[in-house]
Amino acid sequence: MSTLVIVGAQWGDEGKGKVVDAVAAQAQLVGRFAGGNNAGHTLVVGERRIVTHLVPSGCLYPGTRCVLGAGMVIDPEVLAAEIASLRGFGLLQRDELRVSLHAHVIFPFHRALDGLREDRAARGPQAIGTTRRGIGPAYEAKAARRGIQVRDLFDASNLRARLQHNAEVLQPELTRLGSGERIDVDALVDAAHAWAQWLAPMTCDAGALCAAAIRSGERVLLEGAQGALLDLDHGTYPYVTSSNTTAGGACTGMGIGPTVIDAVWGISKAYATRVGAGPFPTKLDDAVGERLRQLGGEFGATTGRPRDCGWLDLPALRYGARLSGMTGLCITKLDVLAALGQASVCVAYADGSDPGRDGLTAARPVLQQVPGFDDPQLAGRLATARTWADLPRAARAYLDLVSETVEVPIALVSLGASRDQTIFVDEPFRSRR
Ligand code: IMP
Repeated sequence: MSTLVIVGAQWGDEGKGKVVDAVAAQAQLVGRFAGGNNAGHTLVVGERRIVTHLVPSGCLYPGTRCVLGAGMVIDPEVLAAEIASLRGFGLLQRDELRVSLHAHVIFPFHRALDGLREDRAARGPQAIGTTRRGIGPAYEAKAARRGIQVRDLFDASNLRARLQHNAEVLQPELTRLGSGERIDVDALVDAAHAWAQWLAPMTCDAGALCAAAIRSGERVLLEGAQGALLDLDHGTYPYVTSSNTTAGGACTGMGIGPTVIDAVWGISKAYATRVGAGPFPTKLDDAVGERLRQLGGEFGATTGRPRDCGWLDLPALRYGARLSGMTGLCITKLDVLAALGQASVCVAYADGSDPGRDGLTAARPVLQQVPGFDDPQLAGRLATARTWADLPRAARAYLDLVSETVEVPIALVSLGASRDQTIFVDEPFRSRR
């Protein structure tokens, strides 16, 4: 038996979709444990470019079960569209998708509130730069114990009462923020009834499903969303998402115990990006940053927003590795960094600030140039590398520096969007218990 958790180690957008897809080839069950359609995976399979926001990348393998866990917030309209799109690609034909009865539902009023709050905050210090998908308001409702779980969709009278309660709490704020619309409880009950029809055969106790799979010796892959520094408790608060993005979230979000997890892989780009507001010590506000953005295609899969780009921040990565107890590091987009013609890396903060203790607001990066990344041949040589030994010496030295500083071995290196541009340095499913 073997259970692997995969999480983002930076601010999200690390290429989890591609890594999960590569690892899912060996898994029988792939679960997602947090977040909602604030996430977006772009998967490149041959000529096909498939974008998913809720369904884990395991959906590309017919027969692999995909589970949306209790820790998620699910917008049924988005899920319906995603299922239809995946079925259009000939995927999810065999009933592979399951949805936790305990996951929370995003309603249109959550989306409206998220957008209106962001509009009001605009570019001021209160703006988080959310994805406006209703994520924060849905988790807020969950914590306030007025959230609506998937299982509530099947009990119309209870649902009506809960929606009524939410309308009473939220309508005044919506109106104050300028919304001319009233929360129409009757219309929402009708919509929920329709969602319940197609959701019913997919619903499950995700924790029980996962535990049974683990017990019967299946390989289980649990996929997080966003990244360590966006974790609600440990990230750059308040510039974070509203869920636990670190590996502990896999337990609470799926309903399993920490003792069944064998390994945790953290994913980091060979450089860094961030979208939305909040501290980003190694951000490049210049032509180099712009070139990195263009080379890496650093525009959000969910919102299309341009991402800020900067050098890899090793103290922050080390912090993320500790938060998730990482046993392996996956480095993505090394080809992009190699194509830039130069590279630096942050090895420490000048003021000695500590990400856990001081946050990153005041951190001043100490940068080191990465030797060999000015070689115009480097990117070309990376493009054809298929094993660790194929990697040019400069690339190996960079990966060694990252691994030694973060104190986590390299597990995987990704050198491009396609499946064959992946080097497995470690095996994903190896029981360590
Ligand atoms: P929310 O999750 O939409 O509430 O957004 C909160 C913060 O997390 C914002 O800074 C977003 O840009 C960021 N965020 C949320 N999801 C992602 C993601 O998948 N990738 C990168 N940033 C994200």
